[in-house]
Amino acid sequence: MVSRVIPVDPFDLVIFGATGDLARRKILPGLYRRFWAGQMPEGSRIIGAARTEQDADAWRASIRAAIEEFVAKSKHEAEVIDRFLACLDYVAIDVRGDGGWETLRDMMRQEVTQAFYFSVGPGLFGDLAERLHRYKIACETCRIVVEKPFGRDLDSAKALNATLAAHFDEQQIYRIDHYLGKETVQNLMAVRFANVLFEPLWNSQFIDHVQITVAEEVGVGGRGGYYDKSGAMRDMVQNHLMQLLCLTAMEPPSRFEPDAVRDEKLKVIRALDPLETHDIVRGQYRAGAEPSYLDDVEDPDSRTESFIALKVHVANWRWNGTPFYLRTGKRMKARTSEIVVQFKEPPHSIFEEDTGQRANMLSIRLQPDEGMDLRVTIKEPGPGGMRLVDVPLDMSFADALGPEAADVPDAYERLIMDVIRGNQTLFMRGDEVEAAWAWTDPVVAGWVDRGDRPMPYEPGSAGPEDALILLHRDGRRWREIG
Ligand SMILES: NC(=O)c1ccc[n+]([C@@H]2O[C@H](COP(=O)([O-])OP(=O)(O)OC[C@H]3O[C@@H](n4cnc5c(N)ncnc54)[C@H](OP(=O)(O)O)[C@@H]3O)[C@@H](O)[C@H]2O)c1
Repeated sequence: MVSRVIPVDPFDLVIFGATGDLARRKILPGLYRRFWAGQMPEGSRIIGAARTEQDADAWRASIRAAIEEFVAKSKHEAEVIDRFLACLDYVAIDVRGDGGWETLRDMMRQEVTQAFYFSVGPGLFGDLAERLHRYKIACETCRIVVEKPFGRDLDSAKALNATLAAHFDEQQIYRIDHYLGKETVQNLMAVRFANVLFEPLWNSQFIDHVQITVAEEVGVGGRGGYYDKSGAMRDMVQNHLMQLLCLTAMEPPSRFEPDAVRDEKLKVIRALDPLETHDIVRGQYRAGAEPSYLDDVEDPDSRTESFIALKVHVANWRWNGTPFYLRTGKRMKARTSEIVVQFKEPPHSIFEEDTGQRANMLSIRLQPDEGMDLRVTIKEPGPGGMRLVDVPLDMSFADALGPEAADVPDAYERLIMDVIRGNQTLFMRGDEVEAAWAWTDPVVAGWVDRGDRPMPYEPGSAGPEDALILLHRDGRRWREIG
């Protein structure tokens, strides 16, 4: 298979927070993989910026170590790594100070695409945006990339949007939700909108319900301080799960263009019914082989949830009567992210020997192995009569498209290249983020006002018992995690 890649113009990409975890683990290894694949245009440069006083060689050495640690061995070629590191430069800048900006301005070229990656805490966005302007570093067409968390409620998200809007147009702002960079998430759009097979069935007449699960095996560990102020609802549902819900539920956009897609996603968020208390289950992991949630955070009486399950209604014609069940948590049975579309059973079975319940199911796996499978019912082979059996129609990219297709780019590398191409389709627009917070805020306020405690759950489980009951009471059950 020959892959076609949309070409990219040479660029200057400045990464603020160049010495941080995200830069080391995701951004630089991702850029290296694109370079290794020959997709970083000749003459492009990556400039690291952070407070740490060091020269470019010292930063390059740390990035060489990061590549060796985070990029697959099959892509370690000394000569390619050397050429990649030669594209890197570094400048020491304290975003809140006034040193280093002129050096950065002198480094930037006006004739290439300029992008600034804000891989620093959101508290620094204002100073960063203001100084990029004051020192005349950012050109009018430059792009800026911002990371989650984009606010912790509607007010703070609005304030962040206003801070950025003071210096940049919305067309220049790329808000990353790395779930949108996953191959299968984009494939969900291809499956829905490039086939006639699914779209006529994609509604409450044929779909019984949808489950969206993002389960992690790890606890909050070293991130306890940050996580405890946030919790699963703010940290995962408001952004990642909401985005997956939008892509599953949205109407077909008229074109595959940034605003056409984002308009449809926004309509889904605005159509969400307020959540009822009995449709929310919050949990907190107990101690198991490793410490409990309360051992991982400072507050011994913390009521922050490390797990949440929700029953959500999209109040429009297409989805009336089809619930979306969302769940996400830490220290769960396995690391799994998937969207499961459960179709309804056939209205009548003509097969006398058919005792089981038969319904098609489409599952879209985001991790660990990206792919899709569709469960269909067929006749069990053999002379034993018309016995029915459910089998998967597995859409493994590698089997269908050759081994190259299994080597899918990591979400970060795809998204960074989209920034350089100027394609905002897979990035959240400011009004989308605000609408998501507007739906989330009253839900969180509800349990804070009531002083609710999350329910304890066993580490390595599927969450608290009540999360199972949430579906049982509707005569449904969650798909096994893992
Ligand atoms: N790590 C992840 O997996 C992940 C995932 C999603 C979102 N994020 C978000 O991405 C951002 C960066 O995360 P991270 O994990 O890389 O954080 P981190 O490891 O704490 O790194 C923070 C970076 O910011 C720099 N920095 C801090 N204060 C600065 C200042 N005043 N001026 C200039 N640079 C400054 C630090 O470098 P110096 O100390 O050298 O200045 C460091 O390079 C955060 O907003 C985080 O929420 C991270």
